Amino acid sequence: MSIRTPLIAGNWKMNLNIEQSVALVKAIAEGIKGISGVDVLVAPPFTNLYAVKQAIGNSEILLAAQNMHWEKEGAFTGEVSPQMLIDAGCSHVILGHSERRNLFKENDETINLKVKSAYLSGLTPIVCIGETLSERENGWTFDVIRNQLKGSLRFFTEEGRMPASVILAYEPVWAIGTGKTATPEQAQEIQFFIREWIKETFDKDTSDQVRILYGGSVKPDNASALMACPDIDGALVGGASLKPESFMGIIKF
Ligand code: 13P
Repeated sequence: MSIRTPLIAGNWKMNLNIEQSVALVKAIAEGIKGISGVDVLVAPPFTNLYAVKQAIGNSEILLAAQNMHWEKEGAFTGEVSPQMLIDAGCSHVILGHSERRNLFKENDETINLKVKSAYLSGLTPIVCIGETLSERENGWTFDVIRNQLKGSLRFFTEEGRMPASVILAYEPVWAIGTGKTATPEQAQEIQFFIREWIKETFDKDTSDQVRILYGGSVKPDNASALMACPDIDGALVGGASLKPESFMGIIKF
């Protein structure tokens, strides 16, 4: 049996107002009562974080932001610091999501700065990696994944150690929001590769403990097959995390 507690994380992206966010998190808090053995996390937009934290109350739902800047404070118009996220109630932060990489031109260098800053500030980073369709079709998947791991985790590779609390998320870009999920075999193949890379780069203990999530069109009807794979430790869910029924369906995989 895996020593890793599965994590089901909802990335709400740029959706839901404060009222809707509070209603959703309250429904999830109600829904997970009596369910054990799975961690649950939500990542609302910045403006809804504090209200969602208040609504979470005593529930064990974890709170994440979807991005942050690496600096502590200063003249960075439009940016949000790690300390601000902690202040709003976050324990986690999603970094390097493919939408940040592709639409906002983030790269492994800046993602590494964010990962380092999150970790040093006391936030747990959820670091996203994944290949595009053309990269997959060209047979470059393993190179792309290896380079993203090396680049976005450079702070840890230079330290020679990575805390086992760091969470990785494999999200093939071609499976995000497309309804075209990776098959369990496709996801497992890459997630095994990621875990092997962690073992070679750090050590076996770390690779045994680090949670690797799968993301990309996860729905209640495909969650259990994905979660049955030995190297899939949870899901990073977009669209299906916006409705209590579908998100709860995934949590109950
Ligand atoms: P979908 O579940 O909507 O495909 O989104 C996945 C994702 O990007 C989660 O971060």
